[in-house]
This record gives sequence, C-alpha cells and structure tokens, in this order.
Amino acid sequence: MDSLNNKINTSIKSLNFETLQPSELYAPVDYILSLGGKRIRPILVTMACKLFCGDGSKAIPQAAAIELFHNFTLIHDDIMDEAPTRRSKPTIHTKWDLNTGILSGDVLMMKAYERLADCDSKYLAEVLRVFNSTGILVCEGQQLDINFETRLDVTTDEYIEMITLKTAVLLEGSLKVGAIIGDGSKDNIKLLGQFGVNLGIAFQLQDDILDAYGDPDKFGKQVGGDIFANKKTILLITALNSKTTNKDELLSLLELKDGSKVEKILEFYKKSNAKQIAINLRDQYFSKAINFLTQVEGSDQDKQFFIDMANKLQVREV
Ligand code: IPE
Ligand code: IPE
Ligand code: MG
Ligand code: MG
Ligand code: MG
Repeated sequence: MDSLNNKINTSIKSLNFETLQPSELYAPVDYILSLGGKRIRPILVTMACKLFCGDGSKAIPQAAAIELFHNFTLIHDDIMDEAPTRRSKPTIHTKWDLNTGILSGDVLMMKAYERLADCDSKYLAEVLRVFNSTGILVCEGQQLDINFETRLDVTTDEYIEMITLKTAVLLEGSLKVGAIIGDGSKDNIKLLGQFGVNLGIAFQLQDDILDAYGDPDKFGKQVGGDIFANKKTILLITALNSKTTNKDELLSLLELKDGSKVEKILEFYKKSNAKQIAINLRDQYFSKAINFLTQVEGSDQDKQFFIDMANKLQVREV
C-alpha cells in the first residue's frame, strides 16, 4: 500500500505543474496538489484494482486522474462555499482571485481526462462512462447543496440524496474505475461500488460533524463554515425538526451574519442531541458499507485494507 501511495504521488508530481506556463494558471494547481490531502480516492482506485488482479499499479494513471478531478471539485467548491481555508492554507480564490480559481479548476479537470485515458483501449469506454456519469452526479449534488441553503424544509432523505451525489458517488466511481482496470466481474464491481457509496455517505456525515465540532488546528478548514452558510447538514435538519427547538428563535439565528452565530446555533444542536443523532446515522452507513464489502469476492487479506480504511475514516479528525 505504501508503495502504491508513493506511485500515486510520483505520478501526480511527474505532471510538473510548477514548471508549466502560464504560471498564473498552473501555480495554483501546483499549490493545491502540493498540500496533499488524505488521497483517499486514488488509494481506493489502486486497491480496487489490486483486489481483482493482484496489481494495483496497473491503475496508477486513473488513480491520479481521480485525485486531479477531486482537487478540481474542491477549488470550485471553495468558491461556491466562500471557504477561506483548505488543508490548513488559504483557498485558491482567496490567495489569488475568483478567475484564478475558476480556470485552474477547469484545467485540472482536463488534465484528469488526459491521465484517465492512459489505459489499454479495452477499458477506455467503460472507464469514461463511469467517470462521466460520476462527474455529472457530483454537479447535481453540488447544485442541491446550494439550493438547500435557502430552504428550511429539507428532509433527512433529501440530505442523504444530496450527499450521495456530491460526495459518495466519487468514492463509488473511484472503486469502479479501479475494479474495471483490474478486470473485476460485473457483480463484484457493482458490490464494491455499493460499499463505496455507503462509505461515502458515512464520510460526508463525518465531514459535517467535523465542520461543527472539529479541532480547528487539525481539521484544516474553517470550523463552523457550514453553520455560517446555513448548509442543511444532518445537524441543522435535526435541530430544525426537534421538539426541543423553539423554531422561531432558531430561524432568526439563521439570519445572523456575525461571529456569534456559530455558538448560538451549537446550543440548539446540543439541546436536540444533534451530534449523537448524526454519529448514529454515520455508523449505520459504515455498517452498511462493510456489509456490501463482505459480499465482494476476494481474499480476506485484500479486503481487510478496505475495512481498516473505513474504520480510520469513521474516527477521522482531518
Ligand atoms: C473533502 O474531501 C471534500 C469532501 C467530500 C468532504 P477530503 O476530506 O477527502 O479532502 P482531502 O483531499 O483529504 O483534502
Ligand atoms: C464537498 O462538500 C463536496 C465536493 C467538494 C464536491 P463540502 O463543501 O462539505 O466539502 P468541504 O467541507 O468544503 O471539503
Ligand atoms: Mg465546501
Ligand atoms: Mg460544498
Ligand atoms: Mg464539509
């Protein structure tokens, strides 16, 4: 796994964004990629490939492609969310400007396609089909996320649908792309994909928990950002629907723009037990994910990696 990690990093580094011109376009790309991140998705690509063919390095270009695509979505997401920090550093649109964020994101997406297509032609059509449908669903999820900011009646089911689209399908797509390159069977690709969707839902639930309760020194993003933006996270949905909540009071807090907003809204979360409800839902999706994983053919040893990863993500602080 460590050597696959190294190969992923080397593959991304070999794109040499720091040397490309015009530097106004590529320096921000180099900046965000150099900040690293957890690299969950490319690891999923290579480990899915390894599970079915024994050699994860066969899918290194596609792993790099998915990480480039992920970074593109982060740059544009930070613009949409008006986020000041990412990976403990200023976001691209704040360090540079809006146009820089738009265009460096765009070029990153096309670089992702370049890497993605670097595979045996027998895989290309299917890999492209999965990648394209995944990308479209991510956009749909991102639009729902924005639509929900101004709605007050978002249900838990709608929230799960939204996070499935904006986040979980990319974990699913990562596993599927890797599994395709690894010659996995149709049934196994589907099952591993279902592991990925449920893992992704749990992952975004944890992200929403951390956004309210994370350690600012570890999380790397502005804690309370979702609260500021009135994001309809499971926490806010729970508080809005709780019998313990004086709804008029909470609705008036949503109008606030100053720094006191976060702590006042956190009080409502506390009274409605929102954090524990979110944790329970998160853990249900982790269990669901593991249940699908056990149905995938493959050695227990190779599958253990995915279980370990899920366990780590369940308690992640970053
Ligand atoms: C951030 O993803 C976007 C979400 C879906 C929450 P990660 O938490 O995987 O970000 P990095 O790549 O590790 O920084
Ligand atoms: C992430 O949702 C979804 C995508 C980037 C597509 P968030 O907006 O919660 O992600 P973070 O918290 O900014 O990483
Ligand atoms: Mg965001
Ligand atoms: Mg967002
Ligand atoms: Mg978030």
